[in-house]
Amino acid sequence: MKGPVVVTGASGYIGTWLIMRLLEEGYIVRATVRDPSNQKKNQPLLDLPGASERLTIWKADLDEEGSFDEAIEGCSGVFHVATPMDFESKDPENEVIKPTVNGLLSIMKSCKKAGTVKRVIFTSSAGTVNVQEHLKSEYDESSWTDIEFCRRVKMTGWMYFVSKTLAEQAAWEFARENGIHFISIIPTLVVGPFISSSMPPSLITALSLITGNEPHYSILKQVQFVHLDDLCIAHIFLYEHPEANGRYICSSHDVTIYELARMMKERYPQYSIPQKFEGIDDGIGRVCFSSKKLIDLGFKFRYSMEDMFDAAIQTCREKKLLPLQTKEPQCGIGNEAGEHVAMDAKRVNGFDDPKVLRA
Ligand SMILES: NC(=O)c1ccc[n+]([C@@H]2O[C@H](COP(=O)([O-])OP(=O)(O)OC[C@H]3O[C@@H](n4cnc5c(N)ncnc54)[C@H](OP(=O)(O)O)[C@@H]3O)[C@@H](O)[C@H]2O)c1
Repeated sequence: MKGPVVVTGASGYIGTWLIMRLLEEGYIVRATVRDPSNQKKNQPLLDLPGASERLTIWKADLDEEGSFDEAIEGCSGVFHVATPMDFESKDPENEVIKPTVNGLLSIMKSCKKAGTVKRVIFTSSAGTVNVQEHLKSEYDESSWTDIEFCRRVKMTGWMYFVSKTLAEQAAWEFARENGIHFISIIPTLVVGPFISSSMPPSLITALSLITGNEPHYSILKQVQFVHLDDLCIAHIFLYEHPEANGRYICSSHDVTIYELARMMKERYPQYSIPQKFEGIDDGIGRVCFSSKKLIDLGFKFRYSMEDMFDAAIQTCREKKLLPLQTKEPQCGIGNEAGEHVAMDAKRVNGFDDPKVLRA
């Protein structure tokens, strides 16, 4: 048996799937959640194969210094997935940025205290890489988001980009000074099936051409995707690979909104998919997030873009989070399931500007 390893943000979209894969690989897993008594959120974890023998649930909060000490004590690895996503916050410095930065540092301190942790894998974000005044056509791990630009422009979601960027940078410094083996994985927009019961934040954006959630179209303008399963397998790959070091972009597809719309129209004829987008030039090019470093280490992406969307749509339909068909994008969410999607989008995002949900 391998581990024990800790997974934070365990009941979320990525956390749940990662835990499923870790259990399949024979790991002993300590899952941290903020509220262990929340049965709706935690039951899917407890139902996973292998959970009764090898999964335990621990209470920990990024807002509380030292909160992860107990869960991390005696562990060989930590996958830090949790992040505050309250983009509606009236006090972003204290409610989003501080807990993200201090929470990661608190986890790093817990690792140092434990003395048993061989590696920390941090789920970073494309939002730490390319939020800049002048966009490039290709990005690799050497690029960092411009924090000063975020704070100045205050585009919607700025606090998320700032929080993830500052947290990762602070963690690198702490890791260097304290000899912690820290690795960051940088996903783009994550799409795929899911175990959790509510609509995952990233699917609200990815499926917006079906739901007619127009404010999200601009995120899809020049977008990059990764399949949830590829991403979770990559987390474990980097945790286990003896030569893994530094930052790793994990992204398999770069497309424009026009390419995505064409694929979806052909593949899902039951949905009405718009093909024209006001204000978006139909000659726009792709923006590439290069996973060369990850691929050069030996990682193989297994899923196509069609796989991602097939699985995401199928799961949403099964969970009644997406209508079975639409006639027109504008009125396609006018049934009970569609309203649920729209309500969820508002709850999760609480914004009108789509940029907030960029990965
Ligand atoms: N999905 C994507 O497209 C995407 C792309 C790039 C990067 N990422 C990164 O992937 C990670 C997971 O995202 P996700 O899509 O799985 O989102 P998610 O489903 O919303 O999961 C986020 C998790 O963070 C936990 N959390 C929030 N605030 C916390 C706090 N103060 N203390 C402890 N836990 C807290 C939540 O726990 P509760 O259950 O207690 O609320 C939740 O389980 C994030 O770090 C995000 O930045 C995601």
